[in-house]
Amino acid sequence: MEKKRIAVFGCTGSIGENTLEIVRRHRKRFEVVGLAAGRNAARLKELAREFSVSDLALAEPRDDLPGGDEVLAEMASREDVDIVVNAVVGAAGLSVTLAAVRSGKTLALANKESLVTAGELVMRLAREKGATIRPIDSEHSALEACLCGRDRSRIRRVILTASGGPFRGRKAGSFDDVTVAEALNHPTWSMGPKITIDSATLMNKALEVIEAHHLFGFSPDEIAVVVHPQSIIHAMVENRDGTVIVELAPPDMRIPIQRALMKDGDFSAPLDLERLKDLTFEPVDREAFPMLDLAYRCLEKGGTAGAVVNAANEVAVQAFLEERISFGAIPRIVTEVLERHEVKEESDEGVIREADEWARVTAERFVRKKDIGKERSI
Ligand SMILES: NC(=O)c1ccc[n+]([C@@H]2O[C@H](COP(=O)([O-])OP(=O)(O)OC[C@H]3O[C@@H](n4cnc5c(N)ncnc54)[C@H](OP(=O)(O)O)[C@@H]3O)[C@@H](O)[C@H]2O)c1
Repeated sequence: MEKKRIAVFGCTGSIGENTLEIVRRHRKRFEVVGLAAGRNAARLKELAREFSVSDLALAEPRDDLPGGDEVLAEMASREDVDIVVNAVVGAAGLSVTLAAVRSGKTLALANKESLVTAGELVMRLAREKGATIRPIDSEHSALEACLCGRDRSRIRRVILTASGGPFRGRKAGSFDDVTVAEALNHPTWSMGPKITIDSATLMNKALEVIEAHHLFGFSPDEIAVVVHPQSIIHAMVENRDGTVIVELAPPDMRIPIQRALMKDGDFSAPLDLERLKDLTFEPVDREAFPMLDLAYRCLEKGGTAGAVVNAANEVAVQAFLEERISFGAIPRIVTEVLERHEVKEESDEGVIREADEWARVTAERFVRKKDIGKERSI
């Protein structure tokens, strides 16, 4: 069997390292031909030695290594790359996604932020250039499996599950004294810091609703979210005939990563169904977790709203991690920034990058304005 040549962007992170673990198990199937990271040059070089890769890049040139958006985009477009794995965190991954779809690659996509930021552009380019996008997010991976072969006219809606994060059950107005350590303590998933905070605010689910809209073409009212604390069912398809299709899998990202890389994986032991005591579901407390409604507002507005919400959230999450704002201020800042944005039709990359930049500057202003904290109830 001919080896698939893959380039892994964000190889030093949680998804990147898990991707390379799948490659280690299937060395006869894959050859790594490119590796990229943000700043961690030491780990990047270690991985390069292990996988004998010479094409390396960082977010910025550093330690005798090349870097920058153009270098990353060039690596993602290399003619000899079959699969681009985009496991970069944040809108920084947009250039990799755009380069991969523009050159008609198979894109194994963990970087949901690039779809939230520029979903229409990415999907349009993918259609035009014949690129294939395989979701790595566990919900979208499960959804793709549940949708396979189904008659779309018979589907009433799709349902994404959320674990509820570390603050499930907490009431609105009780978030301002949450510490960084508490917010990073996710009950079921082990992930990088940004997505872990997004899971605690439920922004991760908001981003996933937008991602599902772009990937599968469901309208906002056809995408629902339910809290499922055990994280065993990742997504569901509700048919018009009253039946619901689900996929069960343990909360282990190597499963959806493997599926994005190959159709015939054999990674994991099956779930021990007899030891599965509870599979419970509950509604999202939308007052305590306002980010979810923001996703639907964002889809209603369309255009550059996605880029703005995503960028404002990145700034607010970083500020919280640096203990510059309270946890409760994160949704307040994102909401304020979206409200002030004059939405433009998302037409090209320039318009999107401008909106992203505007949102970052505006969000940073709110971060500096300490009074976005407790007394504002948005
Ligand atoms: N972790 C999960 O279970 C999970 C599940 C579903 C989806 N996702 C999505 O997958 C993506 C990655 O998440 P993660 O949890 O793996 O994050 P992570 O552990 O923080 O890793 C992020 C990776 O991106 C690299 N990076 C950061 N900025 C970069 C830049 N400007 N250019 C190139 N590379 C850059 C980092 O490099 P350095 O190490 O050098 O900083 C690191 O390799 C996110 O979009 C997340 O939403 C993650």
